[in-house]
Amino acid sequence: EQINKGKYEHYMQKEIHEQPESLTTTMRGRLIRGGSCKAKTVLLGGLKDHLKTIRRSRRIVFIGCGTSYNAALAARPILEELSGVPVTMEIASDLLDRQGPIYREDTAVFVSQSGETADTLHALEYALENGALCVGITNTVGSVIARKTHCGVHINAGCEIGVASTKAYTSQIVVMAILALAIGGDTISNQERREAIIDGLFDLPNKIRDVLKLDQEMKDLAKLLIAEQSLLVFGRGYNYATALEGALKVKEVALMHSEGILAGEMKHGPLALVDENLPIVVIATRDACFSKQQSVIQQLHARKGRLIVMCSKGDAASVCSGGACRVIEVSYVEDCLQPVVNVVPLQLLAYHLTVLRGYNVDQPRNLAKSVTTQ
Ligand code: G6P
Repeated sequence: EQINKGKYEHYMQKEIHEQPESLTTTMRGRLIRGGSCKAKTVLLGGLKDHLKTIRRSRRIVFIGCGTSYNAALAARPILEELSGVPVTMEIASDLLDRQGPIYREDTAVFVSQSGETADTLHALEYALENGALCVGITNTVGSVIARKTHCGVHINAGCEIGVASTKAYTSQIVVMAILALAIGGDTISNQERREAIIDGLFDLPNKIRDVLKLDQEMKDLAKLLIAEQSLLVFGRGYNYATALEGALKVKEVALMHSEGILAGEMKHGPLALVDENLPIVVIATRDACFSKQQSVIQQLHARKGRLIVMCSKGDAASVCSGGACRVIEVSYVEDCLQPVVNVVPLQLLAYHLTVLRGYNVDQPRNLAKSVTTQ
């Protein structure tokens, strides 16, 4: 039943639309809504005997490739905030190329949908040799990465067939947010924040249902962009990863050049590309970086940039006050969960662009779902 396309034309489309359900499955049994005297908390069975070691580690290193790397990048800020442990990021192949330092006191977290990616697996073997505690976050029970890591969490997103990962990405972020809550532990000082995140997680499937209603709007936008050569996506903070992942989706399935850009780096190069022709998506939903993103939008307007701004519901008029732009309005969720919502319109955009451009959406040329060679 799971590998049936049902009412959908393509697996990627089906997998985008089933995210309310896949996220519900990912969270099942892991969030505990306390009664009046019991605080809300989380439970990750596969990690409970290792949490103390993780909390005491010198740093947490996230290791992955492609979309899985982007998911880890999206979760990094909340993990840093709640755990207080430094978190660094490694693309698996680059860690191996550099033979970068991994220590016994490190916790190395391997993120992989398939659990079989060769680069990630080799990085795991390298981290094991160096004595780090190795944690796996995979979607495939019994996969080699799940078996070789010391402990881990399955994301339970269900079978993903489309080569471009969609529902696994959102489930990975959610699992890593729960991981951050588990490592952070309950303290009086972070109780309010924890409860807001847990409430946000409970509400997330509904918020995704909401954002999926943008399907037609994203199809209309895809029609406008169909003949473009290039698309830039600007993000920062929690949504730097969303910019990278949105651009990766467009690149891999719609076969259009696309680049995710850290908005804080705009003036150090990307600004040179801005003119009235190049379409630019700017992610400017409400969080601590919002005013900085507003200023980015103003600077892009000043250079006559062709803007598509993603903002929180109700912010359309204020984000576009400085010039013409198209707006994608999304529901507000707790900041660290916003990337889960924000990526969905970009997945839809990539999907529609691909279909309209006449390319194979489920099996893009030259790409494989699981890359088992180095
Ligand atoms: C391939 C797939 C991507 C995926 C990456 C990592 O490149 O086409 O969609 O993100 O591998 O795969 P993994 O299974 O390790 O998450």
